[in-house]
Amino acid sequence: MNKLQGQIAVIIIVLIAGIYLGNLGYGGDQASAAHFLTEGHWDEGTCGGCHAGVYYEVMSSYHVQREGDFETSMYSGLSYLTRFEINPGSENNWADIYMNYHPGAGPLETIDGNDGIALDCNICHDQTGEYDWEARGKAISQSRFAEANIDAMASTLANYPVSFGVSTDDSCATTCHITDVSKRAVAWAEDDYENYDAHANNSVSCVDCHITEAHQIGRGDISDSADKSYDNTMKSCDDSSCHGGITHDMVIDGAHIGIVSCEACHIPVLTADLNDPVVKSANWKNGVVDLTYRKSGEFSSTLAWFNGSKEGELPNVGGKNDTGAQLKPFNTIMVTWWDEGIDANVVTGPDSYNVGNPIPLLDVKNADADNDGNVTLDEIRESYPYAMLRTVDLYFSVSHNIAGGGSGLDEALGCEDCHGYVKGKENVTVLDWASLGYETDPGQTDPPTDFAAVNFTVVPYSRPRPIEIEQEPQLMNDLKDLTGRAVI
Ligand code: HEC
Ligand code: HEC
Ligand code: HEC
Ligand code: HEC
Ligand code: HEC
Repeated sequence: MNKLQGQIAVIIIVLIAGIYLGNLGYGGDQASAAHFLTEGHWDEGTCGGCHAGVYYEVMSSYHVQREGDFETSMYSGLSYLTRFEINPGSENNWADIYMNYHPGAGPLETIDGNDGIALDCNICHDQTGEYDWEARGKAISQSRFAEANIDAMASTLANYPVSFGVSTDDSCATTCHITDVSKRAVAWAEDDYENYDAHANNSVSCVDCHITEAHQIGRGDISDSADKSYDNTMKSCDDSSCHGGITHDMVIDGAHIGIVSCEACHIPVLTADLNDPVVKSANWKNGVVDLTYRKSGEFSSTLAWFNGSKEGELPNVGGKNDTGAQLKPFNTIMVTWWDEGIDANVVTGPDSYNVGNPIPLLDVKNADADNDGNVTLDEIRESYPYAMLRTVDLYFSVSHNIAGGGSGLDEALGCEDCHGYVKGKENVTVLDWASLGYETDPGQTDPPTDFAAVNFTVVPYSRPRPIEIEQEPQLMNDLKDLTGRAVI
C-alpha cells in the first residue's frame, strides 16, 4: 500500500464509521439533535452521515439544474413568452427576479465568476412557515449571495429550533409556484385555499400527487413546459390508490371517460378574485411587459383537445382527431412580441404555434432609438430587417382548483353545461361544438333531450385513504418523531 492508497483507506474507514454511527441514532434523539440544533443548512459533516448521497441527488434534480444560462435564456426564446414576472429593466434584474425562485447551486454555484448561492434544503423542507423569502430576495438583489440562505432562516432560527421535514404546500405554492397564479388562476396562495380545491380541503398535499423519486418531483405533461424530461411521473386521478374504479353512471362513463378529462368537468370556473392578479394579455412590444388582467369575479376555463405538448412549440392545444387527445381545461393569455421574421412558417402563419425566432428582450429595448418607450417597426428593423410583430393566444394548462365534495368555486359541470342551450337563445349551445370539431352536439336528440333533467349518481370506489395522505406532516410540537413517517 503506497501513501496515497493509505490515505484513501483511512478516509473510507472514517466515512463508513461516520455513516454507521449516524445510522445508530437514525430517527431517534440523534436525528432530532441533528435537525434541531444546527445552523439550519446542509453541511456534509453534520448531515451527510445519515443522508448519504442526498446532496448530489438534489444537485442533479431538474429543480436545481434548470436552464444553464439564466441570464440570456430568460430574455430570449420561449422563456419570456411564458413568464410574465420577467422585466429586463436594470442590468442585474435577472438576478433580482429569477434567482429568488431558484433553490440555489447548479447554475448558481458561481455568479459572474464569484461564489454564488448555495443549495438551500429549507426552501423546500422548512416546516415553520417562517422561511423569509423577502430577506433572501433582498440579499440576492444586493449581490450578497453567500448570505441569501442564511438571511432567509435568520428569523426562523431565532424563534424555533430548526425543523427539516416533508415539503409543505406552503413551501411549494406560496413562494416559488406563486408565479402560476397569474397564468392559471390557481388559488393555492390564498389563506382559504381549501374552499377552492377539493384536495386541499381533504389534506391532500402537493407532494401526495407530485410524488418524488430521488428529488425528481413528479410531474405531468402540460402545455407550457418546454422541458420534457420527467414528464408523466406523477399520480393521475384514476391511479389505483386514488379514484381508480370510480363510476358516474353509465351515461357519463360510456360517452365521456377517456374523451372528456376529469379536469374538464371538475374545474368548471376560474377566478380573478385572488390576491395576485391573473394575466389576460401580455405585450412585449416595447421590451418590457405590458400586462392587462382578468376582471375581478369569475371566468370559465377554455375546453380544448390536448394529448401532451411538443418540444419547441408555443403553449397550444390540438385537434379532436389527435391520438389520445382529451378535452382539458386551459387559461388563455394573448401574448404579443417581435419575431425576427426569418422562418418561412412564421412569415406565412404569424398566428401559428411555431416558436419562430423571438427577438431577445434586451435587443428590443435597445432598438428604441428615440427613447420614447415605444419600439416601432422602423426602429426594430434597423437591427432586424425582417422583424414582424406577432400576437397569439397561448394556452396554459389548468389542473387545480378541483370542484367536488362541497369545495371548488362551483359544482362540477353537469349535462346541461355542455349539452344545453344558452338561456333565452334556443339555438346557441353552451359548448362551441363546431370549434371542437363536431358537426353538431353528438348528445342531442330529436326531439331534444332536457339535459337539465338528467339524473345520475356518482359512486366513488370505496377504499381507504392512501397512507401517504393519512400521515401528517411534521409539526412543531412533535419533536421526537421528526417527519411523522415510519423510521427505517
Ligand atoms: C442522525 C441521523 C440524521 C442526521 C445527522 C440528519 N438527519 Fe435528516 N433525517 C433523519 C431521519 C431519520 C429522517 C426521517 C426519515 C426520512 O425521511 O428519511 C430525516 C429527515 C430529513 C428531512 C425530511 C425528509 C422528508 O421526508 O421530506 C430533511 C429535509 C432532512 N432530514 C435534512 C437534514 C439535514 C439538512 C441535516 C443536517 C443539518 C440532517 N437532515 C441531519 C436523520 C438524520
Ligand atoms: C426543490 C425542492 C427541494 C429541495 C431544494 C430539497 N428537497 Fe428534499 N425533497 C423534496 C421533495 C418534494 C421530497 C419528497 C416529499 C418529501 O418527503 O418531502 C423530498 C424528500 C427528501 C427526503 C426523503 C426522501 C429521500 O429522498 O431521501 C430527504 C431526506 C430530503 N428530501 C433531504 C433533502 C436535503 C438534505 C436537501 C438539501 C441538500 C433537500 N432535500 C433539498 C424537495 C426538495
Ligand atoms: C390531486 C392531485 C394534485 C395535487 C394535490 C396537486 N397537484 Fe399539481 N398537478 C396535478 C396534475 C394532475 C397536474 C397536471 C398533469 C398533466 O396535465 O399532465 C398538475 C400540474 C401541476 C403544475 C403544472 C401546471 C398546471 O397547473 O398544470 C404545477 C406547477 C403544479 N401542479 C404544482 C402543484 C402545487 C404547488 C401543489 C400544491 C399546492 C399541487 N400541484 C397539488 C395534480 C395535483
Ligand atoms: C362529464 C363530466 C364529468 C366527468 C368527465 C367526470 N366527472 Fe366527476 N363528477 C361530475 C359531476 C357533475 C359530479 C357530481 C357533482 C359534484 O360533486 O360536484 C361528480 C362527482 C365526482 C366525485 C364525487 C365528489 C363528491 O362530492 O363526493 C368524484 C370523486 C369525482 N366526480 C371524480 C371524478 C374523476 C376521478 C373523474 C375522471 C376519471 C371524473 N370525476 C370525471 C362530473 C364529471
Ligand atoms: C364537459 C362537457 C360535457 C359534459 C358536462 C357532458 N358531456 Fe356528454 N359529451 C361531451 C362530449 C365532448 C361528447 C362527445 C364524445 C365523443 O366525441 O365521443 C359527449 C357525448 C355525449 C353523448 C353521445 C354519446 C355518443 O355515443 O355519441 C351523450 C348521450 C351525452 N354526451 C350525454 C351526456 C349526459 C347525459 C351528461 C350529464 C350526465 C353529459 N353528457 C355531460 C361533453 C360533455
